[in-house]
Amino acid sequence: LGHHLHYYPSVTSTQNIAHDLARDKASHGTVVMAGEQTKGKGRMKRYWDSKQNAGLWFSTVLRPKSLEPKNATQITLVAAVALAKVMSNYSIPVRIKWPNDLFIGERKLSGILTEMQAEQDQIDYIILGIGINVNHDKNDFDQSIVNQATSLKIYAEEQINLNDLFKSVAKEFELQYERFIEQGFKPIKSEWESYAYKMGEWLKVRAQGEWNAKLVGIHEDGALKVIDENGQEHLLYSAEILWS
Ligand code: BTN
Repeated sequence: LGHHLHYYPSVTSTQNIAHDLARDKASHGTVVMAGEQTKGKGRMKRYWDSKQNAGLWFSTVLRPKSLEPKNATQITLVAAVALAKVMSNYSIPVRIKWPNDLFIGERKLSGILTEMQAEQDQIDYIILGIGINVNHDKNDFDQSIVNQATSLKIYAEEQINLNDLFKSVAKEFELQYERFIEQGFKPIKSEWESYAYKMGEWLKVRAQGEWNAKLVGIHEDGALKVIDENGQEHLLYSAEILWS
């Protein structure tokens, strides 16, 4: 990963450029990285705050040959596990908030956005976008997220080298990805669960009314597994969880 690395000081979104390159036949593992993004994209059409050299903002072209489109979301969970492992190596106590946000305590450190291009039953390519808040001071975040976001620097109280961090992330992602391709989702699933935010806790979910649910794990297909107050199991596929 990253043998073909395209770096841009400033772009709208690295996702857009990665899509262009992928349509232009870029190979598996091609990375587009930016110093800043003026129109960083988050999940569900949200804006992703990506200021100049404050974080790692990059998108990777993936071409998983034997993966079915319905299992593409598993790649996002693979990436979340890889990121969590890297952070743990830096002694940062992160949790993965389903589906794939990285949190330190109650604050968001990192987000992942995967976009897939598929035809019939074949994945053409996946763009895996990763954003990690690295060297932000508290005041560097947009006002709207300042109370919900954090950075490695805020936690560790020191500047982190972006290049070294990228190398660690790239290496760990490659390891986890290979394992996923060779052994399937099972080993990833249990690791994901070991990092899960609020695992074993009771929360409110909104699905045909509001009810209490206890988080018990994730399903093979990436859905969140919960039980209700009668002990009945449910699989949740979209963001219906009231986390706080
Ligand atoms: C989220 O938590 O909603 C996902 C955020 C993903 C942000 C990354 S930064 C690199 C890549 N380019 C983008 O525009 N978004 C992703």
